[in-house]
Amino acid sequence: MQFTQSTVGRKVLMAVTGFILISFICVHLLGNSSVYWGADGINAYAKHLHDLGPLVWIFRLFMLAVFGLHIIFGIQLTLENRAATPGNYAVKRMARANFASETMIVSGLALLAFVVYHILHFTAHVTNPEISASLLPADALGRPDVFTMVVLSFQKFLISLIYVAAMVFLFLHVSHGFQSFIQTFGFNNGPSLHILEKVSKGVALVLLFGYISIPILIIFGIVKI
Ligand code: HEM
Repeated sequence: MQFTQSTVGRKVLMAVTGFILISFICVHLLGNSSVYWGADGINAYAKHLHDLGPLVWIFRLFMLAVFGLHIIFGIQLTLENRAATPGNYAVKRMARANFASETMIVSGLALLAFVVYHILHFTAHVTNPEISASLLPADALGRPDVFTMVVLSFQKFLISLIYVAAMVFLFLHVSHGFQSFIQTFGFNNGPSLHILEKVSKGVALVLLFGYISIPILIIFGIVKI
């Protein structure tokens, strides 16, 4: 398939916005891991973030723009690819496709739905207001009790199930997305492609196990109030 200049531009923007999103997801996992230090860990971390004041809002708007562009370019590129290979199964078979690469739109849309739910849950406190940090009593140091909110949330089976399912979509999306990002910048030949596939899967697995460990350790009562 021949790439037009605008397709190349879109691929580069997908890669750059994807890289920013993966960086956020890695930093967010490190921040969330402070839940293992109990209330003193995650409540202190959340308070530091909220104390940044207007900077938090600048960051939120920047991330919203990055996320929006990533989705728009992703849909445009998929439509272009489909238009370039209409029903051409021979071409499809030749391409180095796998389940993760074939389901990028589905896993991407599932993650979009998850992020909307996640913000309504933990940030806007809409979906489970009865256990939101804004309504729970503050902790001993007067900080919003994010630790209790997270633990009470994941003690609910349905909420944990939604998060674990979403992390499986994250695994699928990152295991192909990370590889795509590196390939856009030129590492796309023979042996290095094989290594690249392994590295991408490794990054995606670390994110999968890192994130699902939180609901799983809570639901099994290992992390508790
Ligand atoms: C077990 C998994 C996760 C936990 C426990 C978790 C925890 C949290 C918490 C507690 C907040 C609210 C922070 C606050 O306002 O004090 C938050 C916000 C957020 N999380 Fe997560 N998160 C998880 C997974 C994810 C994933 C996989 C993504 C992205 C794909 C994500 C994206 C976000 C975003 C965009 C926000 C809003 C940030 C803001 O308020 O500015 N989270 N998360």
